[in-house]
Amino acid sequence: MNGDYLFKQVYDYVLHRIELNEWNENEKLPSIRNLASEMKVHRLTVLKAYQLLRQENRVYVKDKSGYYVQSREINKLESLVNPIVSAYVQKNHLSEIHQVPVSYQFSQALIDPNLLPNRFISDYVKKVFDLYPKVLSTYSTVQGDHELRQTLSDYFNQHYKTITHPDHLLITSGSQQAIHLIAQAFVKSRDTILLERPSYSSAIDIFRAQGANIVTVDIHPYGYDLEQIEFIMKKHKPRLFYLNPTFHNPTGYTVPLVQRKQLVQLAQHYRCLLIEDDAYYDIFFDQEPPPPMYTYDTSGMVIYIKSFCKYVSPGLRIAVMMNGQSSVVKSLLAVKSLADNGSPLLNQKIFLHYFSSSRLQQHVEKLRIALQIRKEIMEEELSVTDWQWTSPNGGLNLWVLLPSRLSTEDLLVKSLEQSISFVPGQICDPLKEPSSWLRLSYSYANEKQISDGLRKFINLVRSTQ
Ligand SMILES: Cc1ncc(COP(=O)(O)O)c(C=O)c1O
Repeated sequence: MNGDYLFKQVYDYVLHRIELNEWNENEKLPSIRNLASEMKVHRLTVLKAYQLLRQENRVYVKDKSGYYVQSREINKLESLVNPIVSAYVQKNHLSEIHQVPVSYQFSQALIDPNLLPNRFISDYVKKVFDLYPKVLSTYSTVQGDHELRQTLSDYFNQHYKTITHPDHLLITSGSQQAIHLIAQAFVKSRDTILLERPSYSSAIDIFRAQGANIVTVDIHPYGYDLEQIEFIMKKHKPRLFYLNPTFHNPTGYTVPLVQRKQLVQLAQHYRCLLIEDDAYYDIFFDQEPPPPMYTYDTSGMVIYIKSFCKYVSPGLRIAVMMNGQSSVVKSLLAVKSLADNGSPLLNQKIFLHYFSSSRLQQHVEKLRIALQIRKEIMEEELSVTDWQWTSPNGGLNLWVLLPSRLSTEDLLVKSLEQSISFVPGQICDPLKEPSSWLRLSYSYANEKQISDGLRKFINLVRSTQ
């Protein structure tokens, strides 16, 4: 049965009983475990319903003791319309976890806003209005601001010695939109596509929603088994292979140079589009990673997506897609025009001026150090355990294996109750098999939150084993 529907049922059931006064003010609600077993639903479903009732001030939490019915006086003062029910009515598993407010945020692969260049960007906001007084009175072109596309293609050509033309670029509202547009343009129901296992969970959700038949290849700290990929390309003829080869989300692994070149050759040979999602390239710690696969592509088989949301500004929602075949770009433009007629011009201009300034480089250099420190603090805390992970050389996450047979889906419920969030491995698995892997992001919480939260979390896992 649909998870959103179940969640709504639990929510309605509890609210109804409160309204009928079957559960009185300040009375304790059934525990999450009991209500889940009574209603035959997952404990996470009950937790979500309780969290929503809490946000609406219908229930409150007493530390470690559980959920209680809120008094009517308080409730009257703050009677709210329900602002987030609609946000749950979507099939994005990751966003469901992010809806739950917590003190120790290890589930969001986002950078702490205190580490982002907020003040400098706001300087550029003023500058952009002076330079382009009519910026809000006009649409951008569907393909994106020409000045921005020219600047980005120049940057690429200088940095990687490519010959990219501004016409090969399409500006999108984040890389999430880029993946969505690609799915709409190139994947029909029952088309076979290839995904890494594990993979970025929202990409899995997007391709699944498009009705794709998903085949997977494992990603390892050393990359892929290319023979397996060749076998799959020969046998299943996938339309595309969506991959995140640099500081991969969720594992942090990076595919080595030699495999990048070979994979491009395979894609050219078997006519399989490679969708190279490169959200984390610039967040490296010691050494710049190998160049993107896109830079080795001579026949337009790689659609390259680079997002600037992670390390410049998630709020500006700027990403760029690149491909050398005009027919591919044309198909993408058609779906982009249906989606939104172009990303907001104001955001593009603000980003352009920041990107062209020397401040970006200074910011990224400092950011790399700050994130490396946070990663090391997290690893230091984890070093007292026998959990396993491969230390990444960049990116935002640790991909951690807990002792066997511990389901991280079940653990998440207990962990959220203690105000700690993480991403269970199953969400990142295109095959959705139960798993003892989990993703811990070290980029959002500050140093103290990482230490305190990890200690609590390690104790929780130990008490669960
Ligand atoms: C691999 C990957 N791709 C795409 C995205 C979406 O990022 P945005 O839409 O903010 O650019 C994320 C965000 O976590 C990601 O990890």
